[in-house]
Amino acid sequence: MPVLNWATKTDPHPIRATLKLDSIIYPQGKGYPGEPAQHTLMIGDNLAAIWALLPEFEGRIHLIYADPPFFTNRRYPARVGRGEDSRRPSEWQLVEGYPDHWPSLDAYLDMLYPRLVLMHRLLAPTGTLYLHLDWHANAYARLLLDEIFGPEYLLNEIIWVYHGPSPIRSAFNRKHDTILAYTKSDSYTFNVDAVRQPYDPSTVKTFASSPKAGFGKIPDLKRGKVPEDWWYFPVVARLHNERSGYPTQKPQALLERIVLASSNPGELVADFFCGSGTTAAAATRLGRQFLGGDVAARAVHTTTARLAASSTAPFSLQRVLLPGQPIAAAVQPPIVDPGIIQIERLASSLRVKLASDLLDPLDYWEVDPSWEGGVFHSAGQAIRPRRKGNLPGELCVNTTSPAGRVCVRMVFVDGGAAQAVV
Ligand SMILES: C[S@@+](CC[C@H](N)C(=O)[O-])C[C@H]1O[C@@H](n2cnc3c(N)ncnc32)[C@H](O)[C@@H]1O
Repeated sequence: MPVLNWATKTDPHPIRATLKLDSIIYPQGKGYPGEPAQHTLMIGDNLAAIWALLPEFEGRIHLIYADPPFFTNRRYPARVGRGEDSRRPSEWQLVEGYPDHWPSLDAYLDMLYPRLVLMHRLLAPTGTLYLHLDWHANAYARLLLDEIFGPEYLLNEIIWVYHGPSPIRSAFNRKHDTILAYTKSDSYTFNVDAVRQPYDPSTVKTFASSPKAGFGKIPDLKRGKVPEDWWYFPVVARLHNERSGYPTQKPQALLERIVLASSNPGELVADFFCGSGTTAAAATRLGRQFLGGDVAARAVHTTTARLAASSTAPFSLQRVLLPGQPIAAAVQPPIVDPGIIQIERLASSLRVKLASDLLDPLDYWEVDPSWEGGVFHSAGQAIRPRRKGNLPGELCVNTTSPAGRVCVRMVFVDGGAAQAVV
Protein backbone atom coordinates (compact mmCIF):
# COMPACT_ATOMS: atom_id res chain seq x y z
CA MET A 1 0.00 0.00 0.00
CA PRO A 2 1.41 3.46 -0.83
CA VAL A 3 2.36 5.40 2.33
CA LEU A 4 3.13 9.10 2.62
CA ASN A 5 6.62 9.80 3.95
CA TRP A 6 8.45 13.03 4.65
CA ALA A 7 11.82 13.77 6.24
CA THR A 8 10.55 14.58 9.74
CA LYS A 9 7.74 11.99 10.01
CA THR A 10 7.79 10.27 13.42
CA ASP A 11 5.38 8.44 15.70
CA PRO A 12 3.76 10.76 18.26
CA HIS A 13 6.03 11.51 21.25
CA PRO A 14 4.19 11.20 24.58
CA ILE A 15 3.59 14.51 26.37
CA ARG A 16 3.00 14.53 30.13
CA ALA A 17 0.18 17.06 30.01
CA THR A 18 -2.59 17.45 32.56
CA LEU A 19 -5.95 19.19 32.64
CA LYS A 20 -6.64 21.77 35.32
CA LEU A 21 -10.27 22.64 36.04
CA ASP A 22 -10.67 26.40 35.62
CA SER A 23 -14.44 26.95 35.73
CA ILE A 24 -17.85 25.36 35.67
CA ILE A 25 -20.31 27.36 33.64
CA TYR A 26 -24.00 27.03 34.47
CA PRO A 27 -25.73 28.45 31.38
CA GLN A 28 -28.03 31.24 32.55
CA GLY A 29 -27.67 29.80 36.06
CA LYS A 30 -29.23 26.41 35.14
CA GLY A 31 -28.04 23.64 37.46
CA TYR A 32 -26.15 26.02 39.78
CA PRO A 33 -24.54 25.08 42.11
CA GLY A 34 -24.86 21.29 42.35
CA GLU A 35 -25.39 19.79 38.89
CA PRO A 36 -22.25 18.16 37.49
CA ALA A 37 -20.77 19.42 34.22
CA GLN A 38 -21.89 17.40 31.19
CA HIS A 39 -19.66 18.94 28.55
CA THR A 40 -15.97 19.81 28.58
CA LEU A 41 -14.16 22.64 26.88
CA MET A 42 -10.37 22.80 26.95
CA ILE A 43 -8.00 25.65 26.25
CA GLY A 44 -4.55 24.73 24.97
CA ASP A 45 -2.73 22.79 22.28
CA ASN A 46 -4.81 19.77 21.32
CA LEU A 47 -1.82 17.42 21.05
CA ALA A 48 -1.14 17.92 24.75
CA ALA A 49 -4.89 17.85 25.48
CA ILE A 50 -5.32 14.50 23.74
CA TRP A 51 -2.35 12.98 25.60
CA ALA A 52 -3.96 14.17 28.84
CA LEU A 53 -7.30 12.61 27.83
CA LEU A 54 -5.99 9.25 26.64
CA PRO A 55 -5.82 7.46 30.03
CA GLU A 56 -9.53 8.11 30.60
CA PHE A 57 -10.94 8.34 27.09
CA GLU A 58 -9.00 5.88 24.91
CA GLY A 59 -11.56 3.92 22.84
CA ARG A 60 -14.49 5.90 24.28
CA ILE A 61 -15.31 8.75 21.91
CA HIS A 62 -18.08 7.99 19.43
CA LEU A 63 -17.59 10.78 16.96
CA ILE A 64 -14.69 13.15 16.29
CA TYR A 65 -15.05 16.07 13.88
CA ALA A 66 -11.74 17.71 13.04
CA ASP A 67 -11.56 21.01 11.16
CA PRO A 68 -7.89 21.98 11.44
CA PRO A 69 -6.12 24.79 9.62
CA PHE A 70 -6.19 23.91 5.90
CA PHE A 71 -2.55 24.74 4.98
CA THR A 72 -3.62 27.94 3.22
CA ASN A 73 -0.68 30.00 4.49
CA ARG A 74 -3.01 32.79 5.50
CA ARG A 75 -3.94 34.54 8.70
CA TYR A 76 -7.62 34.57 9.55
CA PRO A 77 -8.72 37.66 11.45
CA ALA A 78 -11.85 37.57 13.59
CA ARG A 79 -14.54 40.23 13.37
CA VAL A 80 -15.55 41.63 16.70
CA GLY A 81 -17.80 44.38 17.87
CA ARG A 82 -21.45 44.99 17.86
CA GLY A 83 -23.18 42.58 15.54
CA GLU A 84 -20.08 42.05 13.27
CA ASP A 85 -22.58 42.62 10.46
CA SER A 86 -20.90 42.81 7.05
CA ARG A 87 -23.52 45.33 5.98
CA ARG A 88 -22.36 47.73 8.72
CA PRO A 89 -18.56 47.44 8.76
CA SER A 90 -18.26 50.64 10.80
CA GLU A 91 -19.56 48.68 13.79
CA TRP A 92 -16.94 45.97 13.86
CA GLN A 93 -13.16 45.74 13.92
CA LEU A 94 -10.71 43.07 12.85
CA VAL A 95 -8.61 41.36 15.51
CA GLU A 96 -6.39 38.29 15.57
CA GLY A 97 -8.34 35.09 14.88
CA TYR A 98 -5.99 32.21 14.17
CA PRO A 99 -2.97 31.69 11.93
CA ASP A 100 -2.66 29.05 9.19
CA HIS A 101 1.01 29.72 8.36
CA TRP A 102 3.53 26.94 7.88
CA PRO A 103 7.21 27.05 6.94
CA SER A 104 6.67 23.96 4.73
CA LEU A 105 4.31 21.12 3.92
CA ASP A 106 6.48 18.91 6.16
CA ALA A 107 5.79 21.23 9.11
CA TYR A 108 2.06 21.06 8.42
CA LEU A 109 2.12 17.27 8.25
CA ASP A 110 4.17 17.19 11.47
CA MET A 111 1.22 19.00 13.07
CA LEU A 112 -1.54 16.87 11.51
CA TYR A 113 -0.15 13.33 11.60
CA PRO A 114 0.31 12.75 15.36
CA ARG A 115 -3.08 14.31 16.11
CA LEU A 116 -4.80 11.96 13.65
CA VAL A 117 -2.97 8.95 15.12
CA LEU A 118 -4.10 9.88 18.62
CA MET A 119 -7.67 10.72 17.60
CA HIS A 120 -7.87 7.21 16.12
CA ARG A 121 -6.88 5.86 19.55
CA LEU A 122 -9.60 7.92 21.24
CA LEU A 123 -12.35 6.61 18.95
CA ALA A 124 -14.72 3.94 20.24
CA PRO A 125 -14.88 0.72 18.18
CA THR A 126 -18.14 1.98 16.64
CA GLY A 127 -16.75 5.49 16.17
CA THR A 128 -16.18 7.71 13.14
CA LEU A 129 -13.73 10.53 12.42
CA TYR A 130 -14.67 13.32 10.02
CA LEU A 131 -11.67 15.35 8.81
CA HIS A 132 -12.62 18.62 7.12
CA LEU A 133 -10.08 20.11 4.67
CA ASP A 134 -9.94 21.60 1.19
CA TRP A 135 -7.79 21.25 -1.92
CA HIS A 136 -4.65 22.52 -0.16
CA ALA A 137 -3.99 19.36 1.89
CA ASN A 138 -6.78 16.84 1.46
CA ALA A 139 -4.77 14.55 -0.85
CA TYR A 140 -2.03 14.18 1.76
CA ALA A 141 -4.54 13.72 4.57
CA ARG A 142 -6.30 10.94 2.64
CA LEU A 143 -3.03 8.98 2.54
CA LEU A 144 -2.43 9.58 6.25
CA LEU A 145 -5.92 8.39 7.13
CA ASP A 146 -5.58 5.33 4.87
CA GLU A 147 -2.40 4.48 6.77
CA ILE A 148 -3.90 5.08 10.24
CA PHE A 149 -7.40 3.63 9.78
CA GLY A 150 -6.87 1.32 6.81
CA PRO A 151 -8.16 2.25 3.33
CA GLU A 152 -11.09 -0.15 3.76
CA TYR A 153 -12.44 2.10 6.55
CA LEU A 154 -13.00 5.12 4.35
CA LEU A 155 -16.73 5.66 4.82
CA ASN A 156 -17.19 8.66 2.55
CA GLU A 157 -15.42 11.45 0.81
CA ILE A 158 -18.01 14.18 1.33
CA ILE A 159 -17.93 17.31 -0.78
CA TRP A 160 -19.46 20.40 0.79
CA VAL A 161 -20.35 22.88 -1.94
CA TYR A 162 -21.21 26.52 -1.37
CA HIS A 163 -21.37 29.88 -3.13
CA GLY A 164 -19.59 33.12 -2.37
CA PRO A 165 -17.62 35.95 -3.89
CA SER A 166 -14.07 35.29 -5.05
CA PRO A 167 -11.38 37.47 -6.64
CA ILE A 168 -10.18 34.52 -8.77
CA ARG A 169 -9.84 35.22 -12.52
CA SER A 170 -7.36 32.58 -13.64
CA ALA A 171 -9.17 29.38 -12.60
CA PHE A 172 -12.64 28.15 -11.70
CA ASN A 173 -13.88 29.48 -8.36
CA ARG A 174 -12.81 27.13 -5.61
CA LYS A 175 -16.08 26.61 -3.78
CA HIS A 176 -16.01 23.22 -2.15
CA ASP A 177 -14.41 21.57 0.86
CA THR A 178 -13.68 17.88 1.32
CA ILE A 179 -14.68 15.97 4.44
CA LEU A 180 -13.03 12.57 4.78
CA ALA A 181 -15.00 10.20 7.02
CA TYR A 182 -13.29 7.07 8.38
CA THR A 183 -14.73 4.46 10.74
CA LYS A 184 -12.77 2.56 13.35
CA SER A 185 -14.29 -0.82 12.41
CA ASP A 186 -16.97 -2.46 10.27
CA SER A 187 -19.58 -2.14 13.01
CA TYR A 188 -19.89 1.61 13.08
CA THR A 189 -22.84 3.87 13.91
CA PHE A 190 -24.71 5.23 10.90
CA ASN A 191 -28.25 6.42 11.65
CA VAL A 192 -29.56 6.52 8.14
CA ASP A 193 -33.13 7.41 9.08
CA ALA A 194 -31.98 10.39 11.11
CA VAL A 195 -30.49 12.10 8.05
CA ARG A 196 -32.99 11.29 5.34
CA GLN A 197 -34.12 14.23 3.22
CA PRO A 198 -37.35 14.86 1.33
CA TYR A 199 -37.15 13.89 -2.34
CA ASP A 200 -36.94 16.72 -4.79
CA PRO A 201 -40.49 17.86 -5.79
CA SER A 202 -39.63 17.07 -9.43
CA THR A 203 -38.86 13.43 -8.47
CA VAL A 204 -42.14 13.16 -6.58
CA LYS A 205 -43.98 14.58 -9.59
CA THR A 206 -42.24 12.21 -12.02
CA PHE A 207 -43.22 9.15 -9.98
CA ALA A 208 -46.76 10.46 -9.58
CA SER A 209 -47.14 10.67 -13.36
CA SER A 210 -45.40 7.39 -14.21
CA PRO A 211 -44.72 4.56 -11.73
CA LYS A 212 -42.24 3.14 -14.29
CA ALA A 213 -39.99 6.19 -13.97
CA GLY A 214 -37.49 4.36 -11.75
CA PHE A 215 -36.93 1.46 -14.18
CA GLY A 216 -38.52 -0.99 -11.74
CA LYS A 217 -37.22 0.70 -8.58
CA ILE A 218 -39.87 2.68 -6.75
CA PRO A 219 -38.41 4.81 -3.95
CA ASP A 220 -40.27 5.26 -0.68
CA LEU A 221 -41.16 8.84 -1.42
CA LYS A 222 -42.61 9.47 2.03
CA ARG A 223 -39.60 8.16 3.94
CA GLY A 224 -37.22 10.45 2.06
CA LYS A 225 -33.84 9.73 0.56
CA VAL A 226 -30.36 9.14 1.92
CA PRO A 227 -28.36 12.29 1.15
CA GLU A 228 -25.71 12.05 -1.53
CA ASP A 229 -22.04 12.44 -0.60
CA TRP A 230 -22.10 16.03 -1.86
CA TRP A 231 -23.83 18.51 0.37
CA TYR A 232 -25.01 22.05 -0.17
CA PHE A 233 -25.18 24.28 2.88
CA PRO A 234 -24.85 28.05 2.68
CA VAL A 235 -21.66 29.45 4.19
CA VAL A 236 -21.97 31.15 7.57
CA ALA A 237 -21.39 34.59 5.99
CA ARG A 238 -24.94 34.20 4.67
CA LEU A 239 -26.42 32.98 7.95
CA HIS A 240 -26.93 36.15 9.95
CA ASN A 241 -28.28 34.38 13.01
CA GLU A 242 -25.31 32.04 13.28
CA ARG A 243 -22.37 34.32 12.65
CA SER A 244 -20.07 34.64 15.62
CA GLY A 245 -17.38 36.68 13.86
CA TYR A 246 -14.89 33.82 14.35
CA PRO A 247 -13.11 33.07 11.05
CA THR A 248 -13.89 29.95 8.97
CA GLN A 249 -16.92 29.12 11.11
CA LYS A 250 -18.85 26.16 9.67
CA PRO A 251 -22.65 26.03 9.33
CA GLN A 252 -24.43 24.34 12.21
CA ALA A 253 -26.66 22.37 9.80
CA LEU A 254 -23.57 20.67 8.37
CA LEU A 255 -22.44 19.60 11.83
CA GLU A 256 -25.94 18.52 12.80
CA ARG A 257 -26.05 16.12 9.85
CA ILE A 258 -22.72 14.61 10.92
CA VAL A 259 -23.76 14.34 14.58
CA LEU A 260 -27.13 12.77 13.70
CA ALA A 261 -25.59 10.25 11.31
CA SER A 262 -22.63 9.10 13.36
CA SER A 263 -23.60 9.31 17.03
CA ASN A 264 -26.52 8.50 19.30
CA PRO A 265 -28.08 10.66 22.01
CA GLY A 266 -25.98 10.63 25.19
CA GLU A 267 -22.79 9.63 23.34
CA LEU A 268 -19.54 11.55 23.36
CA VAL A 269 -18.80 13.89 20.43
CA ALA A 270 -15.40 15.58 20.24
CA ASP A 271 -13.89 18.47 18.32
CA PHE A 272 -10.30 19.37 19.21
CA PHE A 273 -10.12 22.28 16.71
CA CYS A 274 -13.43 23.71 17.89
CA GLY A 275 -13.05 27.34 16.70
CA SER A 276 -16.34 29.13 17.32
CA GLY A 277 -17.93 25.98 18.79
CA THR A 278 -20.13 24.81 15.93
CA THR A 279 -19.75 21.13 16.86
CA ALA A 280 -20.38 21.98 20.51
CA ALA A 281 -23.58 23.81 19.58
CA ALA A 282 -24.79 21.00 17.30
CA ALA A 283 -23.88 18.19 19.70
CA THR A 284 -25.45 19.79 22.78
CA ARG A 285 -28.59 20.74 20.87
CA LEU A 286 -28.96 17.11 19.78
CA GLY A 287 -28.48 15.70 23.29
CA ARG A 288 -24.91 14.42 22.91
CA GLN A 289 -22.06 15.08 25.33
CA PHE A 290 -19.41 17.42 24.00
CA LEU A 291 -15.67 17.28 24.61
CA GLY A 292 -13.32 19.63 22.80
CA GLY A 293 -11.27 22.74 22.73
CA ASP A 294 -8.94 25.05 20.92
CA VAL A 295 -5.54 26.62 21.36
CA ALA A 296 -6.85 30.14 20.67
CA ALA A 297 -8.34 31.99 23.64
CA ARG A 298 -10.73 33.78 21.31
CA ALA A 299 -12.08 30.45 20.03
CA VAL A 300 -12.67 29.20 23.56
CA HIS A 301 -14.31 32.49 24.57
CA THR A 302 -16.57 32.35 21.51
CA THR A 303 -17.53 28.73 22.22
CA THR A 304 -18.11 29.53 25.90
CA ALA A 305 -20.44 32.40 25.02
CA ARG A 306 -22.21 30.25 22.42
CA LEU A 307 -22.79 27.37 24.86
CA ALA A 308 -23.70 29.71 27.72
CA ALA A 309 -26.44 31.15 25.50
CA SER A 310 -27.72 27.85 24.06
CA SER A 311 -26.88 24.88 26.29
CA THR A 312 -29.16 23.71 29.06
CA ALA A 313 -26.50 21.74 30.94
CA PRO A 314 -23.43 22.90 32.87
CA PHE A 315 -20.05 22.56 31.18
CA SER A 316 -16.51 22.76 32.46
CA LEU A 317 -13.57 24.77 31.17
CA GLN A 318 -10.24 22.99 31.60
CA ARG A 319 -6.76 24.37 30.99
CA VAL A 320 -4.19 22.16 29.32
CA LEU A 321 -1.02 22.32 31.41
CA LEU A 322 2.40 21.18 30.28
CA PRO A 323 5.06 19.88 32.67
CA GLY A 324 6.83 22.74 34.41
CA GLN A 325 4.09 25.27 33.60
CA PRO A 326 3.33 27.35 36.70
CA ILE A 327 -0.28 26.64 37.62
CA ALA A 328 -1.00 30.04 39.15
CA ALA A 329 0.01 31.91 36.01
CA ALA A 330 -2.03 29.57 33.85
CA VAL A 331 -5.34 29.89 35.63
CA GLN A 332 -5.99 33.44 36.81
CA PRO A 333 -6.91 36.40 34.59
CA PRO A 334 -5.35 39.70 35.75
CA ILE A 335 -7.14 41.35 38.68
CA VAL A 336 -8.73 44.80 38.22
CA ASP A 337 -10.13 47.39 40.63
CA PRO A 338 -13.26 46.03 42.37
CA GLY A 339 -14.70 49.56 42.33
CA ILE A 340 -16.13 48.79 38.89
CA ILE A 341 -18.70 46.46 40.46
CA GLN A 342 -21.79 47.30 42.52
CA ILE A 343 -23.52 44.54 44.43
CA GLU A 344 -26.96 44.46 45.96
CA ARG A 345 -27.25 41.48 48.31
CA LEU A 346 -30.75 39.98 48.52
CA ALA A 347 -31.92 36.97 50.62
CA SER A 348 -30.78 34.22 48.26
CA SER A 349 -29.60 36.14 45.24
CA LEU A 350 -27.33 38.99 44.19
CA ARG A 351 -27.86 41.82 41.77
CA VAL A 352 -24.51 42.67 40.18
CA LYS A 353 -23.93 45.84 38.16
CA LEU A 354 -20.87 46.78 36.10
CA ALA A 355 -19.72 50.37 35.61
CA SER A 356 -21.35 51.49 32.35
CA ASP A 357 -18.12 52.86 30.81
CA LEU A 358 -16.68 49.35 31.04
CA LEU A 359 -19.33 47.72 28.90
CA ASP A 360 -18.28 49.01 25.49
CA PRO A 361 -15.04 47.01 25.16
CA LEU A 362 -16.56 43.86 26.71
CA ASP A 363 -17.74 40.78 24.85
CA TYR A 364 -19.22 39.03 27.87
CA TRP A 365 -18.99 38.91 31.65
CA GLU A 366 -19.95 36.36 34.26
CA VAL A 367 -20.35 36.09 38.01
CA ASP A 368 -19.32 33.61 40.70
CA PRO A 369 -21.43 34.66 43.70
CA SER A 370 -19.57 32.39 46.20
CA TRP A 371 -15.97 32.80 45.11
CA GLU A 372 -13.53 30.64 47.03
CA GLY A 373 -10.47 31.51 45.01
CA GLY A 374 -10.08 28.24 43.08
CA VAL A 375 -12.54 26.98 40.50
CA PHE A 376 -14.78 29.71 39.08
CA HIS A 377 -18.49 28.78 39.31
CA SER A 378 -20.22 30.90 36.71
CA ALA A 379 -23.78 31.30 38.01
CA GLY A 380 -24.78 33.92 35.43
CA GLN A 381 -23.46 35.30 32.17
CA ALA A 382 -24.11 38.51 30.26
CA ILE A 383 -23.35 38.03 26.57
CA ARG A 384 -23.12 40.68 23.86
CA PRO A 385 -25.99 40.03 21.43
CA ARG A 386 -24.56 39.26 18.00
CA ARG A 387 -26.99 41.29 15.94
CA LYS A 388 -29.02 43.86 17.85
CA GLY A 389 -29.05 45.29 21.34
CA ASN A 390 -26.43 45.96 23.98
CA LEU A 391 -24.43 43.91 26.42
CA PRO A 392 -26.47 43.78 29.67
CA GLY A 393 -24.80 45.77 32.45
CA GLU A 394 -26.67 44.01 35.24
CA LEU A 395 -27.05 40.37 36.23
CA CYS A 396 -29.17 38.74 38.89
CA VAL A 397 -27.74 35.42 40.14
CA ASN A 398 -28.79 32.94 42.80
CA THR A 399 -26.38 32.31 45.64
CA THR A 400 -26.06 29.93 48.57
CA SER A 401 -23.85 32.36 50.53
CA PRO A 402 -25.34 35.87 50.21
CA ALA A 403 -22.54 37.42 52.29
CA GLY A 404 -19.69 35.63 50.51
CA ARG A 405 -17.02 36.98 48.16
CA VAL A 406 -18.12 37.69 44.61
CA CYS A 407 -15.87 37.34 41.56
CA VAL A 408 -16.70 38.91 38.22
CA ARG A 409 -14.82 37.73 35.13
CA MET A 410 -14.77 39.81 31.99
CA VAL A 411 -13.74 38.97 28.43
CA PHE A 412 -12.93 41.94 26.19
CA VAL A 413 -13.66 42.12 22.47
CA ASP A 414 -9.91 42.44 21.82
CA GLY A 415 -9.43 38.98 23.39
CA GLY A 416 -8.12 40.01 26.83
CA ALA A 417 -9.66 38.93 30.11
CA ALA A 418 -9.77 40.32 33.65
CA GLN A 419 -11.43 39.62 36.97
CA ALA A 420 -12.51 41.65 39.97
CA VAL A 421 -13.25 40.33 43.45
CA VAL A 422 -15.50 42.01 46.03
C1 LIG B 1 -10.84 25.93 10.76
S1 LIG B 1 -10.85 26.54 12.39
C2 LIG B 1 -12.20 25.66 13.13
C3 LIG B 1 -13.53 26.31 12.85
C4 LIG B 1 -14.69 25.61 13.53
N1 LIG B 1 -14.99 24.34 12.95
C5 LIG B 1 -15.93 26.49 13.52
O1 LIG B 1 -16.98 26.07 12.99
O2 LIG B 1 -15.86 27.60 14.05
C6 LIG B 1 -9.45 25.78 13.05
C7 LIG B 1 -9.22 25.99 14.51
O3 LIG B 1 -8.15 25.16 14.93
C8 LIG B 1 -7.50 25.81 15.99
N2 LIG B 1 -6.18 25.19 16.17
C9 LIG B 1 -5.11 25.24 15.33
N3 LIG B 1 -4.08 24.55 15.83
C10 LIG B 1 -4.50 24.03 17.02
C11 LIG B 1 -3.89 23.21 18.02
N4 LIG B 1 -2.63 22.79 17.89
N5 LIG B 1 -4.62 22.89 19.11
C12 LIG B 1 -5.92 23.31 19.24
N6 LIG B 1 -6.54 24.08 18.33
C13 LIG B 1 -5.85 24.42 17.23
C14 LIG B 1 -7.45 27.26 15.55
O4 LIG B 1 -7.23 28.14 16.66
C15 LIG B 1 -8.82 27.40 14.91
O5 LIG B 1 -9.74 27.91 15.85
